[in-house]
Amino acid sequence: MTILVLGATGKTGRRVVSALDALGVDYRPVSRRTEIPFDWTDESTWARALDGATAVYLVPLAMNLDDAEVAAFVPQAVAAGVRRIVLLSARGISPDDGRERAVRASGVDWTILRPTWFSHNFSEDYFLPEILAGEVALPAGGDGAHPFIDAQDIADVAVAALTQDGHAGVAYELSGPEALTFGDVLARIGEVSGRSIRITEMPAADYTGMLVERGFGVAYAEVLSMSLTAMRDGHDAALSDGVPSVLGHDGRLFGDYVKEAAGIWA
Ligand SMILES: NC(=O)c1ccc[n+]([C@@H]2O[C@H](COP(=O)([O-])OP(=O)(O)OC[C@H]3O[C@@H](n4cnc5c(N)ncnc54)[C@H](OP(=O)(O)O)[C@@H]3O)[C@@H](O)[C@H]2O)c1
Repeated sequence: MTILVLGATGKTGRRVVSALDALGVDYRPVSRRTEIPFDWTDESTWARALDGATAVYLVPLAMNLDDAEVAAFVPQAVAAGVRRIVLLSARGISPDDGRERAVRASGVDWTILRPTWFSHNFSEDYFLPEILAGEVALPAGGDGAHPFIDAQDIADVAVAALTQDGHAGVAYELSGPEALTFGDVLARIGEVSGRSIRITEMPAADYTGMLVERGFGVAYAEVLSMSLTAMRDGHDAALSDGVPSVLGHDGRLFGDYVKEAAGIWA
């Protein structure tokens, strides 16, 4: 068994690689920067990455809502001998979404992971530059909470689905064990880092415009803005049961994540 890990330098892919390594399972980590490169935008890189692979941890491009590349990749993976696909999707994605459809129609064992927003967006991505600058802009909303999930919990569920039986044909809704507001989150990060971090409220359209200026595609910027607005309006606080049902625990607490990541904000 060789597991191809896409997005292997990213927040969940890196953790999937470490866990597979610890298990002694054969794997091939790929991204644009790995020894064997894989680029979603360059189909000529796919065959070498897939050579000999029997399973795939499929991490689609975040910035791109066009699912055409996933729809093209899945049949190539199956033709190359892949028999199991674990797709990283997202909470709120419709089952009609192109990437989920492609995986369900693959004809091989599939598992879909639909996580909430990752805690690690605060320390490895997305919100980090603003936290370090002391001011986080957000689309204006109320004070709604969200159950941010630790990327390690997603990776652990992915590894279970990649290496164990009993997960085929299942879409797991994944969340952290507690819902927190951005105010709570930034206060906790402020406490461990000694930083003062302000929230700047923006109308959703301005927020979308700011993301586009930062290089996000318009459609993706709109989705992020809508998702953050819904979250802050209190429409995205529900906990999901995927982590307890697969891992047998409630998921890592945000407070523990903050302690682990403290050095990044120091
Ligand atoms: N972040 C969240 O809160 C969240 C929540 C729910 C779902 N998701 C989903 O998770 C997936 C990952 O998103 P993320 O933002 O968390 O990113 P990530 O996995 O932390 O990082 C992106 C990964 O993709 C690789 N990558 C970037 N461009 C690539 C390309 N053209 N071809 C091949 N690989 C490429 C990057 O590696 P290189 O730069 O080395 O190529 C990196 O390993 C997305 O599909 C997103 O919708 C994210």
